[in-house]
Amino acid sequence: MKAVFIDDFSTGRGLSLTETADPRPPAGTEVLVRVRAAGLNRADLLQAKGLYPPPAGVSPNIPGLEFAGEVAAIGDRVAEWRAGDRVFGITAGEAQAEYLLIDERHLAQIPERLSFTEAAAVPEAFITAFDAVATQAGLSEGETLLIHAVGSGVGLAALQIGRSLGARVVGTSRTGGKIAACREFGLDAGIVAAEPIFAAAVVEASEGRGADVVLDLVGGAYFPEDLRCLAPKGRIMLVGLTSGRKAEADLGLILQKRATIRGTVLRGRSFDEKCGVIRSFRDQIVPLLADGTLMPVIDRVFAAADVLAAYDHLASNESFGKVVLEF
Ligand SMILES: NC(=O)c1ccc[n+]([C@@H]2O[C@H](COP(=O)([O-])OP(=O)(O)OC[C@H]3O[C@@H](n4cnc5c(N)ncnc54)[C@H](OP(=O)(O)O)[C@@H]3O)[C@@H](O)[C@H]2O)c1
Repeated sequence: MKAVFIDDFSTGRGLSLTETADPRPPAGTEVLVRVRAAGLNRADLLQAKGLYPPPAGVSPNIPGLEFAGEVAAIGDRVAEWRAGDRVFGITAGEAQAEYLLIDERHLAQIPERLSFTEAAAVPEAFITAFDAVATQAGLSEGETLLIHAVGSGVGLAALQIGRSLGARVVGTSRTGGKIAACREFGLDAGIVAAEPIFAAAVVEASEGRGADVVLDLVGGAYFPEDLRCLAPKGRIMLVGLTSGRKAEADLGLILQKRATIRGTVLRGRSFDEKCGVIRSFRDQIVPLLADGTLMPVIDRVFAAADVLAAYDHLASNESFGKVVLEF
């Protein structure tokens, strides 16, 4: 099969579409998926530099955390899927390839209205956003959700999820055009943050209360202001650290506001934990994709052979929504 293969980890650009060994036939509860499209993620950029190796048992050379495709073959104990079914999901790696072996419990059925390419833009962004904002932070109707890098793949998923839960959504971006484009997805207030200074604007946008939940996709430089604009009993979800992994925090604010600060990752979770997040995805997100309440946002689609250009585009920070590779 053809797969994106990293053969040099020194520059982050040592990857190409390469002929690699076919996967073995599926056994037990495994499903062999013919991948038609795979979404790109910041983690892939790090993996290509050798900075974010996958867990044991997953090839470090073939990246890819999400996919959409059709069932090509099934193991002898697969109960739910048949050849030809349209499926999508998350995996700890190896999704940027023509074929992927995955357990049947880590798959969901693609709603009819979505193409493979659209479906490939869904799993990582929507699962990460829903898990952080709804499952872990317990965002509820009438609360204010602040999303940093709101024009990112995860940010746009969280914006739509926040709106569907009845929250007021405030977003930051360093790019004015992305804030303007987010209005179409229901953004209530946008802050162009050329510098990480936004606390006063968030307090103003929430009628003085502050943010009940912060989905921080940026980390480091933004964290001190997160604390400043947090509402009483507010929850900060640390999900991404593109602006750095160190911050100086006023611990007094954490006490005073009775704040909760949680960090989260998807990839490192156990098999059973992943079954749980996929179940929530199937029950709570897929129906909203099927009826059009939620929609994937695709910035650009690349042929798998142009994988280097696709990675460069994601790294440029110019994308609004997801970058997808077609196989
Ligand atoms: N914990 C998890 O399980 C998990 C899962 C998925 C993603 N993530 C993380 O979530 C974040 C978003 O992922 P994504 O795939 O949605 O990203 P994305 O679509 O590539 O968008 C990231 C955006 O962040 C902004 N940004 C980049 N560097 C920044 C900096 N230094 N300061 C402020 N803003 C910066 C840029 O937009 P503007 O500058 O134009 O605003 C960029 O376009 C990433 O950090 C990713 O690693 C974590």
